[in-house]
Amino acid sequence: MDEVTFRSDTVLSDVHLYTPNQRHLMVRLNGVGQPGGRRHHGRRSTREPPQCHPNSGHFFRFPSCPEHTMATPLEDVGKQVWRGALLLADYILFRRDLFQGRTVLELGAGTGLASIVAATVARTVYCTDVGADLLAMCQRNVALNSHLAAAGGGVVKVKELDWLKDDFCTDPEAPFSWSEGDIADLYDHTTVLFAAEVFYDDDLTDALFATLSRLAHRLKNACTAILSVEKRLNFTLRHLDVTCEAYDHFRSSLHALEKLAHGKLRFVVEPVEASFPQLLVYERIRQLELWKIVAEPAA
Ligand SMILES: C[S@@+](CC[C@H](N)C(=O)[O-])C[C@H]1O[C@@H](n2cnc3c(N)ncnc32)[C@H](O)[C@@H]1O
Repeated sequence: MDEVTFRSDTVLSDVHLYTPNQRHLMVRLNGVGQPGGRRHHGRRSTREPPQCHPNSGHFFRFPSCPEHTMATPLEDVGKQVWRGALLLADYILFRRDLFQGRTVLELGAGTGLASIVAATVARTVYCTDVGADLLAMCQRNVALNSHLAAAGGGVVKVKELDWLKDDFCTDPEAPFSWSEGDIADLYDHTTVLFAAEVFYDDDLTDALFATLSRLAHRLKNACTAILSVEKRLNFTLRHLDVTCEAYDHFRSSLHALEKLAHGKLRFVVEPVEASFPQLLVYERIRQLELWKIVAEPAA
């Protein structure tokens, strides 16, 4: 793990992946080899090893822990694993029916952890983010864990998708660009969109919601979007109080999406109770939330 030097713009995720000798992220499996097991209720530090011992039962294991960084400047936040990615991964394993054999797309995938988990169930995962460096790290993580996807028949395609741009990058010279075939496959088959911890800057949140809406309108099939967010409280000098502005902006964006009156779709928004089993090791704090958006034809 890299030495961390803290500067004024350094941001630090609460997740530090458990990295014993060969860096394993573990998920408890039930007796028939499916993800299962008891929900963890205690407040355990993410630095502690999982409660179950590697030799004691069945494990679903990332043989190569996703390459990630402990602390980064704000523009490199995608190189850290955020708690919401683990909550989303747990949800994917819980709602396998939603992902089984499907084509799905992750927005702002960062290290690619949630996409790698999705590929154990889905047929094709479009794992997207921006920045050649970050996408290259993500691609390495996908390659290191490709047998997990293969076991479930899935494939992960790492691609650039910038919410601040209206279109896909199709320049064949650019790394992680889209082929016409990929775009057609995405539009024809995608039924699930998902994103973890991408609501920390109001302009980016607006761009992400615009992207979600645009994609949903272009997809041939109805789709469901699953979003994780952590309600972060900050003291601001402007308010001289503790606020959660980024979270509030996310909630008002959800509300605005639901109120959209034009277009061929209507969006139904609902919170997902985080009572599904916890298979990955992280602290499932109360501020960690999951939201579901169903895009369906307007009546
Ligand atoms: C806090 S990180 C979350 C990463 C990952 N989903 C996780 O939870 O571990 C936010 C992610 O949003 C991505 N992002 C920021 N601006 C973006 C943009 N304009 N288009 C696409 N992705 C963007 C970042 O590169 C980063 O990977």
